Amino acid sequence: MAYETIVVDVEDHVATIRLNRPDALNALNSQLLGELSAALTDADRNDKVRCIVLTGSAKAFAAGADIKEMSEKSFVEMFLQDFFGHEAMTITRVRKPVIAAVAGYALGGGCELAMMCDFIIAADTAKFGQPEINLGVVAGIGGTQRLTRFVGKSKSMDMHLTGRFMDAEEAERSGLVSRVVPAKKLLEEAQSAAAKIAEKSLLASMAVKEAVNRSYETTLSEGLLFERRLFHSMFATDDQSEGMAAFMEKRTAQFRDR
Ligand code: HXC
Repeated sequence: MAYETIVVDVEDHVATIRLNRPDALNALNSQLLGELSAALTDADRNDKVRCIVLTGSAKAFAAGADIKEMSEKSFVEMFLQDFFGHEAMTITRVRKPVIAAVAGYALGGGCELAMMCDFIIAADTAKFGQPEINLGVVAGIGGTQRLTRFVGKSKSMDMHLTGRFMDAEEAERSGLVSRVVPAKKLLEEAQSAAAKIAEKSLLASMAVKEAVNRSYETTLSEGLLFERRLFHSMFATDDQSEGMAAFMEKRTAQFRDR
């Protein structure tokens, strides 16, 4: 499928999706989110893809929702369209692992999109922020909820109320990103992490995602039970036999997703 606002490349079991509206710092408009939603759904269904990397440009992962598109909308339009309520969330329905590779600005909806990925690798140039307050609005696709879970109430309030940006070092220290790498190596590092994930059993990767994500939705005892039952269920798979046999035979496991 031909896209205008994103570029998709599938290589060695990794789909790399690059946001590509350079003139608007990858601001998220309806077209981009529709195309991103379609590309993510395709990648999730494509048997050749085992991990997804979502990235932007050196200057911006995404500078937020497209302010020019939003500015004239009324409450009624926003409500009836459930503005960005469905397509922006596609990424949270993807069952394969998704890594955000963030350089430059990840602001507003851009920061929220990165937080919907499974983990964030940041370039040392990355700047995260929820500056919606400067526009007289609040975050709309998860910022108040997800950032708070990542960095805690005090820092989240600070970010949302002052609209200040957080640099990569602070983002790593606060638990928003999993690692910081030199900007020039960002894509290489993200794709190499994705390649490593792509070597594992996809059944196990999907189970990991379900279990970790469940920790946001449930109590500790229910989450522990969910995890234990998932763990037990893995013993119905060939990949469990192969993984454990490979360990004992001191060889690399050949997972077959069954
Ligand atoms: C539309 C945007 C944009 C945005 C940048 N541009 N951000 N267009 N929506 N969110 C456009 C600019 O208008 C400009 O185009 C071009 O990109 C380059 O941007 P500059 O501002 O000239 O670059 P710079 O001076 O380097 O400043 C970079 C910046 C600034 C700090 C990132 O652009 C900025 O503050 N952007 C807005 C960030 C923001 O408020 N994001 C939150 C949006 S609300 P032209 O054609 O004018 O030269 C949101 C809500 C989410 O995300 C909820 C979803 C439902």
